[in-house]
Amino acid sequence: MIQFNETTILKVNEIIARYPEGKQKSALLPVLHLAQVEFGGWLAVPVMDYVAQLLQIEPIEVYEVASFYSMYNLKPVGKYVFEVCQTGPCMLNGSDNIIDYIKSTLNINVGETTTDGMFTLKTVECLGACGYAPMMQLGKTYREHLTKEKVDSIIETCRSKAN
Ligand code: FES
Repeated sequence: MIQFNETTILKVNEIIARYPEGKQKSALLPVLHLAQVEFGGWLAVPVMDYVAQLLQIEPIEVYEVASFYSMYNLKPVGKYVFEVCQTGPCMLNGSDNIIDYIKSTLNINVGETTTDGMFTLKTVECLGACGYAPMMQLGKTYREHLTKEKVDSIIETCRSKAN
C-alpha cells in the first residue's frame, strides 16, 4: 500500500496548512517532490493517485502538473540524473555538443537510463544559470561551464561514489 512515512505525513500536513481551507491543491508541487523522493525517484500512477487523494483533488489534476514540469519523473530513473539545459544561452555555448557527448559516452539517448541503472539523461529548459552555460543539474547541485573533460570527471566521480 502506498503511504508516506510518519515524518513525511507531518511535513505534508504542514505544507497543506500554509494555504487557506479548500486551497490544498496549492500544496501540490512540494508534495510531489516529497513523493518522488520517498517512492523511488519517480511518480508512478498509483503514487500520483495517492497524492490526489491526500490533497482531495482529482487524479488528472496531479497528472497534468507532474507531466508538465521536467523535475518530475514519470518513469524510473537512474541513481544519477543529468538534466542538461538546452535553452538558448546554453545552446549557444555548446549544450548540443555536451548532450551528444553524454549520449555517446553513456550509450543512451535523451530520456533513457543506462542498463546498469546508474545514469539517466534528460534535457530541460533554462535553469536560471545562463551565465554559467553550458550547464546541467545533477541532484541538488549545478555543474557549470561544462566541457567534455568535466563530463568525464563527473561520470567518474559518480561511478566511484556508487562503488
Ligand atoms: S539557458 Fe541554460 S541556464 Fe539559462
